[in-house]
Amino acid sequence: MIDRVVLVGFMCAGKTTVGYRLADRLGWDFLDFDRAIEEREGRRIAQIFREEGEAGFRGLEASLTEEVQDQQQVVLAPGGGWVTQSELVDRLRSRSLFVWLRVQPETVYARQRVQTAVERPLLGVEHPLEAIRKILADRVGLYQQADAVVDTDGRDPDDVVAEIVELLNRSGARKGVGS
Ligand code: S3P
Repeated sequence: MIDRVVLVGFMCAGKTTVGYRLADRLGWDFLDFDRAIEEREGRRIAQIFREEGEAGFRGLEASLTEEVQDQQQVVLAPGGGWVTQSELVDRLRSRSLFVWLRVQPETVYARQRVQTAVERPLLGVEHPLEAIRKILADRVGLYQQADAVVDTDGRDPDDVVAEIVELLNRSGARKGVGS
């Protein structure tokens, strides 16, 4: 029985926007990992990277995953690099529909330029498009392990939500889906 959705995908794929709207549509809870980590740490993600490095941040993602692994009727949106810790993916595998929100590197580049409120440490480099291409190439095999893929380039987030609801209906998810 599926009673949660895990949205995986690269930075700027739309995980937060889609996740929030999807949860609203389903009447499920929504958990954005980065926001939850920032709230409990009282620090922005960029500050955590500066003070503790990427490894420190990945440790916080791991603790949060352990805490939420038994939650039901929830849409989870971990950060784009969460999939690199495969043991975390395994923890959430049961009862979940994993959806890869796929996005092209050029779209990531364009979106991160306008989303100035979110500082993404891995893209704060001299040649961000090259960094995007490289990191995405390194991770694509991990995102591909999701149960389904949904493209997000040039699409209205509500269309993406509708496609995921359809996927859930087909997978026989628990109660009230799409109603
Ligand atoms: C990261 C993605 C970010 C955030 C951190 C690292 C990554 O989340 O967790 O900056 O490694 O891809 P978003 O995918 O929400 O941007």
